[in-house]
Amino acid sequence: MYSPKRSDLVSSFLLFTLLTMLSGCAPQDDRIKIGQFASITGKEATFGISCSNGVKMAIDEANAAGGVLGKQIDLITLDDQTKAGEAATVVTKLINQEKVVAVLGEVASSRTLAAKPIAQQNKIPLLTPASTNATVTEGADYVFRICFIDPFQGTAMAKFTATTLQKKKAAILKDVKSDYSIGLSEAFTKKFKELGGEILEEQAFSSGDKDFKAQLTSIKAKNPEVIFLPAYYTEVALIARQAKELGINVPIVGGDGWDSPVLIETAGDALEGCYFSNHVSVNDTTPVVKNFVDKYKQLFGTVPDAMGVLGYDAGKIIVEAIKESKTGKPEDIRNALAGIKNFPGVTGSITIDENRNANKPLVVLQIKGSGFVPVESVMP
Ligand code: PHE
Repeated sequence: MYSPKRSDLVSSFLLFTLLTMLSGCAPQDDRIKIGQFASITGKEATFGISCSNGVKMAIDEANAAGGVLGKQIDLITLDDQTKAGEAATVVTKLINQEKVVAVLGEVASSRTLAAKPIAQQNKIPLLTPASTNATVTEGADYVFRICFIDPFQGTAMAKFTATTLQKKKAAILKDVKSDYSIGLSEAFTKKFKELGGEILEEQAFSSGDKDFKAQLTSIKAKNPEVIFLPAYYTEVALIARQAKELGINVPIVGGDGWDSPVLIETAGDALEGCYFSNHVSVNDTTPVVKNFVDKYKQLFGTVPDAMGVLGYDAGKIIVEAIKESKTGKPEDIRNALAGIKNFPGVTGSITIDENRNANKPLVVLQIKGSGFVPVESVMP
């Protein structure tokens, strides 16, 4: 009977290993895994859906062009249901189970902040397309963003309110459960007061609230000329309707969190003429924006909002960083992200600064009918 010698076993093992490598049977090695966490369902679902459409578009384009480092990219998107706790859970899963080399997300600052320590401890680069709260990237050398930050956004909107609109007596209504809302309200207040403005009344609510009549009644009693509302579209729409019902007719001003196709659907005409700041105007006629908007429309059947565009830019930048890393290893991708300079994004030129943020202009939009019309650009 034939009994294999030890040397035969060793050589057949080596041969098997070699064949496996050549035939590409080891799936982890011939594909690159990128993770994404997003609010695909829940209260801020349009944020997650738009953003992941944009990311998917960028990754599909990269794969169609041959992938990166000679490999195709697998994008694994997990739904955090618009909950910060769930964001932490799914990002842990992306890193520990899926073994992704980088993570994209989230839109909302509080959910990116929930994922931040997990990415940092595991040394997996985290790139947020849209989270603007100042603290998101602070003290975490694996956390990056490609958007402006709220100290800039709040300052710009304070100037717009005090100088362009010439309104010096404001009330603020903020969401105390949202890091974004708290930070943006602080930045606005600081600059508004510097410009001689007065905050006559400050009221608070919690994400998910539906009735804002008590806060709005207190605000109305003080007779402000303008209301600053740094919040997300779900509550903004309800607040605007209830303000109108209470006979409040002053302009309401807000930030990027207003941006959603659902805003006007819910608010009706209650926000007509009001203003908010954003990362891009999709009505921009420059070829780079127009071409993107046309292609997005063809693919998804709708005009993108800012998150669709930022998601696309973030997807492009992560692919570029993987390419520049030369190895596809998380640490090298981190270093490549830190070195991104003058990247031609659809939302503008993107340079990652020493604080892992991007300095970019913002655009103030006015709500007219069902559209958002650009009225002013603000440079960083
Ligand atoms: N900037 C918001 C935040 O940090 C998220 C957001 C970005 C919402 C862009 C809409 C558009 O929470």
